Amino acid sequence: MKSFVLTLGFAAFSTFSMAQSAPTGAALAAKHGCLICHNVDNKVVGPAFKAVAEKYSAQKKEATQALVLKIKNGGAGQWGRVPMPPHPNVPESELTDIVTWVLGLNGSP
Ligand code: HEC
Repeated sequence: MKSFVLTLGFAAFSTFSMAQSAPTGAALAAKHGCLICHNVDNKVVGPAFKAVAEKYSAQKKEATQALVLKIKNGGAGQWGRVPMPPHPNVPESELTDIVTWVLGLNGSP
């Protein structure tokens, strides 16, 4: 029983410390396999993340939500005919962190 309480306490503690040092968008993109098809500088299967940042630089706020949904549901047509597969298991909060990172890659605020 004592060890059960200790385990619970430790689990709560590690959740807390993870929230303290939130992983960056780049780390999340790696974790969720985005970098299999995307690269920051070059087109792979999907567009370069810097090209995405450039495309939406004028409408970052509106684009963020739309891109989160696009990644979640998948789709094609913006960059060619190759579709991006859906990613229903990635939490929207993490997608938002990734998209915020991606849209910041062209250096403009
Ligand atoms: C199997 C390959 C593949 C994977 C894995 C993948 N993508 Fe994509 N992604 C694509 C392709 C292909 C497109 C271009 C779709 C289009 O033309 O509209 C794309 C487009 C995008 C765009 C631009 C969408 C637009 O409408 O302009 C963003 C942002 C993006 N991906 C982010 C991600 C993120 C974040 C992940 C990880 C959760 C991810 N992608 C995983 C292939 C992939």
